[in-house]
Amino acid sequence: MIDNCKIIDLPKIHDDRGNLSFIEAGRHVPFVIQRTYWIYDVPGGEVRGGHAYRELQEFFVALSGSFDVVLDDGKARKTVSLNRSYFGLYVPNMIWRHLENFATNSVCLIMASLPYSKEDYIRDYELYLKDIQGVGACLS
Ligand code: TYD
Repeated sequence: MIDNCKIIDLPKIHDDRGNLSFIEAGRHVPFVIQRTYWIYDVPGGEVRGGHAYRELQEFFVALSGSFDVVLDDGKARKTVSLNRSYFGLYVPNMIWRHLENFATNSVCLIMASLPYSKEDYIRDYELYLKDIQGVGACLS
């Protein structure tokens, strides 16, 4: 499942006046964007996330600065560093993740496939592992 998380390159329009990148739903991101939010002013050493979503798919872009996205599918762990605004990380549902190692003044932009729903969160790692095993059992 962790292999389904992927870096997606975004268009980059070079310009001496400053570069420009953009995202179109369904073209650069493999879902219809229903929500956008951003994380900023993160104090040094702080960690965001620490959960999975049952249904939500997300796309992360480091609009400014840098940070690490730590991905975990219950079997493998992978750290992806985001540090440029012309690529992003796609994360499907049912992937445990946290964000760490924020450089000062970093801005993390997140595009999401669904409106905010408290019920979609899995915040207990043990419960996440159980749910993942349940999905595996259904598929086999
Ligand atoms: P949360 O998703 O837990 O933050 P993190 O990025 O660390 O995982 O969200 C923190 C708080 O913000 C929580 O009380 C829910 C609220 N929130 C919204 O109201 N709408 C949103 O779109 C998001 C992402 C969070």
